[in-house]
Amino acid sequence: FHVDMDANETDKGTYPFYMLKEIDEQPNVMRRLAQVYLSETGEPVISDKLLNSMKQADRIYIVGAGTSYHAGLVGKRLFESLTQTPTEVHVSSEFAYEEPILSKKPFFIFLSQSGETADSREVLVNVNAGGYESLTITNVQNSTLSREATYTLLLHAGPEIAVASTKAYTAQIALEAILAKALGEADNQIVAQRFDVRHQLGLVATGIQALVDEKNKIEELAKASFLNTPNAFYIGRGVDQNVSLEAALKLKEISYVQAEGFASGELKHGTIALIEKGTPVIGIITQEKTAGLTRSNLQETMARGAHILTIVSESLAKPGDDIVLPDVDELMTPLLSVVPTQLIAYYTSLNKGLDVDKPRNLAKSVTVE
Ligand code: AGP
Repeated sequence: FHVDMDANETDKGTYPFYMLKEIDEQPNVMRRLAQVYLSETGEPVISDKLLNSMKQADRIYIVGAGTSYHAGLVGKRLFESLTQTPTEVHVSSEFAYEEPILSKKPFFIFLSQSGETADSREVLVNVNAGGYESLTITNVQNSTLSREATYTLLLHAGPEIAVASTKAYTAQIALEAILAKALGEADNQIVAQRFDVRHQLGLVATGIQALVDEKNKIEELAKASFLNTPNAFYIGRGVDQNVSLEAALKLKEISYVQAEGFASGELKHGTIALIEKGTPVIGIITQEKTAGLTRSNLQETMARGAHILTIVSESLAKPGDDIVLPDVDELMTPLLSVVPTQLIAYYTSLNKGLDVDKPRNLAKSVTVE
């Protein structure tokens, strides 16, 4: 891949809002990460010092806020699948004030687009005080979290201006995949050796491009389902549940629709009481072993009046599915399934006449606790 992100990255150009430009940049961000962190033969290019430090760990702790926390949830599956190292994920504002029972040899990963989130910085102060090693994955060079961690890796996603994070989320997950492969290979894990992250990132870049090329269809879907609803649900299982949290946050923070991301199997344990006639419920279905279960959970909501929509991987798709995702490794599907949800949030906000890039009550970087 040879990628030159255009020089005027901080200029909207012909875009009405930075958020749409940043959604469209995601294919190039995937290609750039492959260019920066993979060799010509597709082997990760990660510092030996960092890998040796992570190899000593008996447990990985991922810490982040908001969208970065959601990227950490996917990261847990990548690290546990490719390295077999137990991995925990924590919301930074909670973790900062807990008395965690840490493993003997913990390693901390901080995810932060800005590198300045006070909640996350609070945890890093504690981690440094404990003498533990840490890595910050961030989009801002020389940011506080980058400077104060033992190691740092940059997302190279270009400036992310819109308050709603999009390309930083997918870049964090892609870089976690590269790091997990590198660590797994360093541990001689067969599953890591077999995971062709370079090929996957190529498929993902092409897949995201196909999805953003369908943006008009997704705008119509957003206008038909989300403009006048007070609430909405994204549901899924496993990594699809992780993405449903991010999908709901996007819709909440820029269109002010009270959206929830929910484990689809959990709805029947209470929350399904909120389903009324016309409540939008979007199922995210990319994992073969739970696809059937999520589809029946969707049916349960439809029986109670919900207006259901589906975002499904091609190999699991059925006639009538609303958005079909090109197939990629099941570990990498969040990089695709999130894209239609980013566009649904964008077009709902746009068609409600809201300020997509600067939603009410929010700042791009939350530098207070
Ligand atoms: C995401 O769309 C929000 N802007 C917000 O949740 C953000 O992800 C969170 O504040 C963390 O920011 P950071 O990645 O810069 O640490």
